[in-house]
Amino acid sequence: MSVNSRIPGFYKLSPPERFKAIVERSGLPEGELASMVTADGKMLAIADRMIENVVGTLSIPLGVAANFTINGRDYLIPMATEEPSVVAAASNMASVARLHGGFWASSDQPIMISQIQVVGAKDPQAARLRLYERRQDLLDLANEQDPLLVKLGGGAKDIEVRIVNVADKTYVVLHLIVDVRDAMGANAVNTMAEALAPLVAQIACGRVRLRILSNKADLRLARVRATYDCQALGGPDVVDGIIDAYAFAAADPYRAATHNKGIMNGITAVVLATGNDTRAVEAGAHSHAAAGGRYTSLSHYEKDDAGNLVGTLELPMAVGLVGGATKTHPVAQAAVKLLGVKGAQELAEIIVAVGLAQNTGALRALAAEGIQKGHMSLHARNIAVAAGADGDEIEKVVARLKDEGHVRLDKAQTVLAELRQSGR
Ligand code: MEV
Repeated sequence: MSVNSRIPGFYKLSPPERFKAIVERSGLPEGELASMVTADGKMLAIADRMIENVVGTLSIPLGVAANFTINGRDYLIPMATEEPSVVAAASNMASVARLHGGFWASSDQPIMISQIQVVGAKDPQAARLRLYERRQDLLDLANEQDPLLVKLGGGAKDIEVRIVNVADKTYVVLHLIVDVRDAMGANAVNTMAEALAPLVAQIACGRVRLRILSNKADLRLARVRATYDCQALGGPDVVDGIIDAYAFAAADPYRAATHNKGIMNGITAVVLATGNDTRAVEAGAHSHAAAGGRYTSLSHYEKDDAGNLVGTLELPMAVGLVGGATKTHPVAQAAVKLLGVKGAQELAEIIVAVGLAQNTGALRALAAEGIQKGHMSLHARNIAVAAGADGDEIEKVVARLKDEGHVRLDKAQTVLAELRQSGR
């Protein structure tokens, strides 16, 4: 059946009214959509203020990774993810890293870049220099937009002007370089870029098109290293296997994408749990992976003198503690409290540590027993539930699926039907 997606005034309705409207248009029984609606009225009201056209909320499992020590301090790390094995793998690798002191992390100042694109400048090279000549005027105007940020020690600090040639066009692109302190910074730098646009156009004698931050936040890198004990990882062959896996990712973009996905399993989970912008961090990560002109591994692995595995990871980490969902979502607020972080840089350092642990965990499993063994228990449970198993039926179906080595929905349905028939 086709739906009519035209709902005049949809945005003006309350969430329950919107839900009613979509049920009517969907032609589905209300019960089939009821799980979209949360019973928690307070959460629904918060969600309704966060985005548009809200009908309900989606719950994602929130786990807490254990065993992390970062820069000599222990942390309990909230991770929001739908993927089995992620929290367990991070916690396991953190316990191995702990044997050699845990994770050592550092980060750049929280510097974001905002881009202003000028088109149609007749003398782009000269326009570039004219913009540099007016550096102070541009910075002053930018800083007038956010006196509070300036008071906190942040604000627009510098400019860089680039020439970008595309086919028969030349763009003059001004980068405004802004210290955003404990914010992710998108709002602050976008506001500044928009305010600067008329002056930039006037100085460059061109027309401004885009005024927006760059998610290639490469002035805001966070980095981490850890030594993983050879024996605790499973011995020298596992260490060599991990190094082979890393070399494969470093050389081959097909493998690098999966390798980096493993890193992002950890990173995105903490970014999401703390109410930060997962897409911004992901865009920054992948742009960094291709920074050398070819997409490659974000992490590196080598062996120390004693044969232990040494892992390192460095990538842009644009996360904040003020503004956005971090301030409005109660779970994100609790997650930040649990972490006990004092600033955005500390949060960035925790996040890259989880990314490295996650990556090492995946590579260790791939180099040793393979990834499916760890996945299977939880996966089998999901499949059993999807097949309709309930209560103690779940574990019975899981046991049979694992025994028979076929963790598939059709198999789970057959097993469940058999169990019910035999009354066991
Ligand atoms: C699965 O979500 C992540 C892995 O594919 C990462 C990797 O292959 O390194 C296991």
